[in-house]
Amino acid sequence: MKFFIDTANLDEIKEAQDMGILDGVTTNPSLMAKEGITGADNILAHYKKICDLVDGDVSAEVISTDFEGMVKEGEKLVKISPQIVIKVPMIKEGVKAIKYFSDKGYRTNCTLVFSSGQALLAAKAGATYVSPFIGRLDDISTDGLGLIADIRLIYDNYGYETQILAASVRHVMHIIDCAKIGADVMTGGLSSITGLLKHPLTDSGLEKFLADYKKGN
Ligand code: E4P
Repeated sequence: MKFFIDTANLDEIKEAQDMGILDGVTTNPSLMAKEGITGADNILAHYKKICDLVDGDVSAEVISTDFEGMVKEGEKLVKISPQIVIKVPMIKEGVKAIKYFSDKGYRTNCTLVFSSGQALLAAKAGATYVSPFIGRLDDISTDGLGLIADIRLIYDNYGYETQILAASVRHVMHIIDCAKIGADVMTGGLSSITGLLKHPLTDSGLEKFLADYKKGN
């Protein structure tokens, strides 16, 4: 399973990268705004900084909602680095843009996916990644993990190569359950990744080992 971090915060990206387990970064306009990164030029420059920090894929989202605008933005984004994956919303013009980018050999991440029908369209258009938002589905009392399982089944039925990128991951159990289902990638905040480290028996066991070592020295 690939691990992406879902943030535009350079310190958090560096911390995850330094652990040696990071495969990429996802961002979105809200995450950029949270870091105070505004204006087209500053946003492009920030993507460059992220690409320089990590070895893996960096999803950069288009703002346009029409095909021509998305193509224009995508062409600019891919010039930043070969690491860039163009993030495109699941709307009709977005599906057209994903097909266009995939025909040109550009990688894409179809975002804001909330149903298996949308995921099927993204795969047919040739998306590299599809991003079902499981946390936001859970927020409205629907089954986010069930959607991941449905998409896995559909993609496996037809051998679609689009990778399932479980997004809007909120906690450790989301990651574990996505791994059990067979999601290809998960993207979450730093705390959901570092949360995987934690177990009280590890903490108490280490404490005892260190105390016993001190006794003998
Ligand atoms: C995915 O790429 C999105 O950036 C993200 O996972 C959204 O998560 P949220 O629901 O926590 O905002």
